[in-house]
Amino acid sequence: MEKLVIRGKKPLKGEVSIPGAKNSALPILAASLLVEGKCTISNVPYLKDVSMMIKILESLGANFKREADNVHLDCSDINSWNVPDDLVRTMRSSIFLMGPLLARFKKVKIVYPGGCAIGTRAIDLHIKGLASLGAKIDEKFGYIEVSADKLKGSEIYLDYPSVGATENVMLAAVKAEGTTIIKNAAREPEIIDLANFLNNIGAKVKGAGTAEIKIYGTQKAFTKHCQHDIIPDRIVAGTVMVGAAMTGGDVKLNDVIPPHLESVMIKLKEMGATISKDVNSIRVKGNLPLKAVDLIRTAPYPGFPTDMQPQMMIALTMAKGSSLVSENVFDGRFKHVGEFRRMGAQISTDNRTAVVRGVDTLRGALVESSDLRAGAALVLAGLAAENITIITNIHHIDRGYEQIEALFTSLGGDIKRVLC
Ligand code: UD1
Repeated sequence: MEKLVIRGKKPLKGEVSIPGAKNSALPILAASLLVEGKCTISNVPYLKDVSMMIKILESLGANFKREADNVHLDCSDINSWNVPDDLVRTMRSSIFLMGPLLARFKKVKIVYPGGCAIGTRAIDLHIKGLASLGAKIDEKFGYIEVSADKLKGSEIYLDYPSVGATENVMLAAVKAEGTTIIKNAAREPEIIDLANFLNNIGAKVKGAGTAEIKIYGTQKAFTKHCQHDIIPDRIVAGTVMVGAAMTGGDVKLNDVIPPHLESVMIKLKEMGATISKDVNSIRVKGNLPLKAVDLIRTAPYPGFPTDMQPQMMIALTMAKGSSLVSENVFDGRFKHVGEFRRMGAQISTDNRTAVVRGVDTLRGALVESSDLRAGAALVLAGLAAENITIITNIHHIDRGYEQIEALFTSLGGDIKRVLC
């Protein structure tokens, strides 16, 4: 077991390069199952979830080699549609395996997936989407078995623009007979990245990034050797941006796509940070004390990302005045509030709304990371707080941040990983 030990009150300063996006890499790695040949995926981050997904692909028969940020996969000899339970239980993203395995074998069996405890995280929309393509769904004893004689393109309306359900339907529909139209589709940048990958391997997907995606299915095997670059991780970037702002630092982030971070930049500006941007870089200068904002309201893209809610909330705990934070994507995403309070934050919650009253300073404490982004927010808290903060349960953080201690040490933070 490891923990992070942080000595706070050091402004973050310098330049940092942002790695590839976990939330793009995972569905794209799953999509490589559609390729009866080789593909090279670049800018793949070194993360626990990514290694787990690769392990699953290997267990199904994929050949894998990693050279620095490049992952070479050969899925010609995939020989199983039965995904191993132990690997799936640890990671919600294994749900993405349903689409491509169904497309390739017309059958898939998978145990209900695990992942971060941030709410109900149902999969009804995934199931409904695949059923609309003609798949038969059998859910029993904690397993989901999906099969189809053939997949048929259809018009699917998602009651909610779920990122994962949009991706799963895209992954299956590329091999359906005829055209599939997803209405009320998710519009996240990672959906566009997946569509670009699919188009690279020879599929035909149009409209990704809008609420209506058209997938023109084909019966032909995808055999083209493709090379694809994963987009930069907007949540890792956003986390560093908030860190720079709340420590009164000055950080230039390279290898980012600024339009993906529009809502975060707008809120940080409202809080008094100075932000400038170029084509692929953003600079954030924190001017302390930060100012409170009227409202942070999480929503599907292009709304404010739920994956940035804990990080923004911790910044608001040190801002002058009161702010309202409303969580509209997940129903259980305030678990960090109790840990923030241990550090002196003043927050009251009612269901999905939190009122944050700014305090002059946070104090170091022994705190526990309850999920991935909550853990990242605790790191930011530790960097800005007085004295020493110790964070336990950091395996959650490792799922989405590549050596978070190295990331912040390179910017002047005093943060060490030690054995418990
Ligand atoms: C993805 C991201 C995650 C991010 C989330 C929202 C990946 C690997 N993960 O997760 O980091 O926080 O988008 O931006 O890309 N829902 C249902 N039924 C379903 C599916 C979802 O009710 O079948 C609900 C969920 O419970 C949740 C909401 O829809 O309340 C959003 O979920 P979704 O967009 O599917 O998120 P994920 O794809 O799981």
